[in-house]
Amino acid sequence: MGADPSAWWKEGVFYQIYPRSFADSNGDGVGDLPGVIGRLDHLAWLGVDGIWLNPTTVSPDADWGYDVADYVGVQPVLGTLDDIDELIAEAARRQIRVLLDLVPNHTSSEHPWFVESRSSRDSPKRDWYVWGDPKSDGSPPNNWLSGFGGPAWTLDEATGQYYLHNFLPEQPDLNWWNEEVREEFDRILRFWFDRGIAGFRIDVVHMVVKDRQLRDNPPTTDEDHWFERFRGQRQVHNANRPEVHDVIRRWREVAESYDPPRILVGETHVFDAATLASFYGKGDELNLAFNFLLLHADFHAPALREVVEGTLAAIPPGGWPVWTAGNHDVYRFPSRWAGGDPLKARAALMMVLTLPGTAFLYYGDELGMPDTVVPESRIEDPVGRAYFPVYGRDPERTPMPWSPQPGAGFTEPGVEPWLPFGDYERCNVEDQRRDPESMVSLCRDLLGLRNAFPDLRQGAYEVVAADDAGLWAWRRGERTVVALNLADTPAAIDDVRGLVRISTHRARDGERLEGALRLAPWEGAIVWLDGPGP
Ligand code: NOJ
Repeated sequence: MGADPSAWWKEGVFYQIYPRSFADSNGDGVGDLPGVIGRLDHLAWLGVDGIWLNPTTVSPDADWGYDVADYVGVQPVLGTLDDIDELIAEAARRQIRVLLDLVPNHTSSEHPWFVESRSSRDSPKRDWYVWGDPKSDGSPPNNWLSGFGGPAWTLDEATGQYYLHNFLPEQPDLNWWNEEVREEFDRILRFWFDRGIAGFRIDVVHMVVKDRQLRDNPPTTDEDHWFERFRGQRQVHNANRPEVHDVIRRWREVAESYDPPRILVGETHVFDAATLASFYGKGDELNLAFNFLLLHADFHAPALREVVEGTLAAIPPGGWPVWTAGNHDVYRFPSRWAGGDPLKARAALMMVLTLPGTAFLYYGDELGMPDTVVPESRIEDPVGRAYFPVYGRDPERTPMPWSPQPGAGFTEPGVEPWLPFGDYERCNVEDQRRDPESMVSLCRDLLGLRNAFPDLRQGAYEVVAADDAGLWAWRRGERTVVALNLADTPAAIDDVRGLVRISTHRARDGERLEGALRLAPWEGAIVWLDGPGP
C-alpha cells in the first residue's frame, strides 16, 4: 500500500505568490515566473510543501489577471508556458507542488468568447454569458450589485441587452448553465493538470452559477455578517446557488481522474460555517474551502476561538479545514490584526501554523511584512481607485523585500517597481535569515516543528480550559499544547509538565515546565507534554 495521497496537502503548508510582486528577473519592475524559479530555494529553506500563484494567464489586467483573455496561455510580462513547465519541474525537485489560479466565474471583456458573444443576439456564443433584457423603464434586469460597487449590469447599446458582471464591467460573468461552457472548462482543467500542476485555487467558486430566473437579491438583516451588511444585500441569487455544487462535483471528478489526484482549493467567500462546510460536499467537492470567517474576525481570543470551533464542528466527516491570515485581497495581518506590533504578529503566525488543518501563508507573512502605504498617484488596484482613501488592495501587493540593498533584491537597483517598495531596509529576507530571533526564523522553526510532530499535523483539536479572558489554549493530539496569550496582561495555565518547544519569546525555547505555563503578554508557546494531559 502506498502512502496516503492526500497527506501532503492535508499536513502541509502552502505559500501564496503574487507573481507580479515576488521577484523581477528582467529589470522591468514587474515580478515574473523566472523570478519565482530563482527564489524557490528560499521556499525550500522555509519548508513549504506547495505554492499557489495568482493568475498567470493572459489578461488585459483590468483586475490584475482576474480578467482572463486566454485560459491556456501565459501572460507575456510574467513569462511563457516553458517557464511554467520549468517552474513545475524545479519546484518538484524541491518537493514543492504548484497550484495555479482558475477564474471560471468571469472572463475579460476582451476574451474572444465575449467579443463573439456581444457581436449579436444570434451569436453562437451569446448564451455563454449572462444577458438580460432591460426593464420597461430601461433599467437593469434586477437589483444585483457588483462586488466592486454599483450595479452588476452594463448595457450593451449595440444589441440592447444588459450583461452581468459580478465585478468590473471588464469582467463579464460566464453562464454556467450552458453545457458548452462546462465542457470548455473541463478541457482547461485537463490542459493544466496534464502539465503537472497539483491543483487549482478557484476564484469566487461559490458564485459561479446564477439564478436562472434572475430574481432580485433580498436586503440584508441585522443578523447578517458585517461584510454582507456593508454591501446591503444578501447574495442568494447572483451567488451561493445550490446548483453550484453540481459544477464543483464535475471538476472534482476531473481532478480525481489523475494520479495522484489533483486538488481543488476554493475561494469560498461566505459568512457562516454551515455554508462553508457545504462546499466540501460528501467528500466529492472541494478539497479545501478557504475560511473568510477567520480572515474577517477580530484578533481577540474569543472571536477567533468561536470561528475555529464553529468551523471544526460544521465541516463534514472527511472534510479538512484550511487556515490563512492573509491574501492579496485583505490588509496584511501584521497591520490588520497586529497593528504593527511584532509580538502580536508572531502570535498570529503561530496560530495559523498550529491550528488543525492545512495552512496557507501569503508572501511576506514569514517576515511579518506590514502593509505598504501606497500614495494615490501610485494606485493600481481598480477597487483602490474607486474607494480611495477608504480602502484598496495595493498595500498588501507591494514587492517582496529580499535584501536591504537598492532594488530590495526584487529588481535591479534604480528600477521603479510597479508598486512602491515598503521599508525594505527594516524588513527583508536577507537580514532576517541571519537573525535567529527574527520572524522568518520563527516561521521556519514552526514549519520544522510541524514536520517533526505528527500531533501538529494530524492531532485533533481540544480546547484547554483557561481562566484568563485573553488566553486561548488547545491540545493537538495526545501530547502537544499550543497556548496563545492574546492580551496585554500575563496569563497562566496550571499543572503543565513538559518542555517549551517553541515560544514566540524565543529565549524560552527548551524551558522545562513543572507546574504552570506562564505566558507574557502576547506570548504564544508550543509545549510538548511529559504525558497525556493537562
Ligand atoms: C477574488 C480575487 O481574489 C480578487 O482579487 C478578484 O478581484 C475577484 N475575485 C474577482 O476575480
